[in-house]
Amino acid sequence: MSTHQKLDKNISEIYQRISKVIPDVEWKFHAPLIEKINKLKKEKNAVILAHNYQTPEIYHGVADIAADSLALAVEAAKTTADIIVLCGVHFMAETAKLMNPEKKVLIPDMQAGCSLSASITGEDVVMLKEKYPGVPVVSYVNTSADVKAESDVCCTSANAVKVVESLGSDKVIFLPDHYLANYVQKNTKVKIISWQGTCVVHEKFTAKEVEDIKKQNPEIKVIAHPECPPDVISASDFAGSTSNMVKYVKENQPKKVLLVTECSMSDNIQVENPNVEFVKPCNLCPYMKKITLKKIYDCLKNETNEIKIGHNIAARARRSVKRMAEIGR
Ligand code: 13P
Ligand code: SF4
Repeated sequence: MSTHQKLDKNISEIYQRISKVIPDVEWKFHAPLIEKINKLKKEKNAVILAHNYQTPEIYHGVADIAADSLALAVEAAKTTADIIVLCGVHFMAETAKLMNPEKKVLIPDMQAGCSLSASITGEDVVMLKEKYPGVPVVSYVNTSADVKAESDVCCTSANAVKVVESLGSDKVIFLPDHYLANYVQKNTKVKIISWQGTCVVHEKFTAKEVEDIKKQNPEIKVIAHPECPPDVISASDFAGSTSNMVKYVKENQPKKVLLVTECSMSDNIQVENPNVEFVKPCNLCPYMKKITLKKIYDCLKNETNEIKIGHNIAARARRSVKRMAEIGR
């Protein structure tokens, strides 16, 4: 599993690790907050689960686990902490709550949404089920609890094909990411019925951009997230979830690499792969970037922004998420 486990390090050890990606002038602002958050975590028996797109000061400074969305869901289920602070977007915090309903789950900014999650509602899923009676529904984990409640099972980019094929159906409704649906369709014989959602970060990449970079850097390896348009994935050497991208770089140690995904990924991985050169035309996720050290500190200190899900919806949504976790990677 591609998780990053932060050891109990003091502040100067943390900076030694990340000085290559955080300038000294910025570190002066981050260091006191990192110290305070790590102290507060111990006092409150809290755990910080962070997505791979969080900024380096969060990823390397305060996260106990940093991972892709599938691993975050699995870790949320396992934790013995009393409080989970989910540094990522709202659907990830909701998923953590579904996996571990007894725990207090906090998100540092309630406005940290996701364009995919916003593209579909539970009512839309009901409408799709009426249009295609009997066809099972696979919903990407990047959806609200309402949508998960109307679905048969969830998936992430790390297990989408496996989940689709686990249903034993010749047709599956796969939502909401149109491009991920396209990627799954290329890798399975099951007929995929898709929705028109897209990720505002990955839809911006173009195949021309990738081809131009390859021409300028003939030895470069290009790895893309499956939320990218199909021609971008075709122009790449590898496609996979964020943690599979981390694993690819770690295992292959390419001389030069282009990660066709959110900006912070390259900085975060650079720390553990000092000999790899990261070429960085990347896009920012405006939702992921709503999470800051200051907001993490405030939300943990005051225990604000708690995730609550109505009992009925939660019970049905939990079934879909747990089914996904059982299927695994
Ligand atoms: P992963 O499941 O690959 O971490 O992706 C989540 C996400 O939001 C990508 O945009
Ligand atoms: Fe959603 Fe895209 Fe941001 Fe991931 S990168 S959280 S899919 S908007």
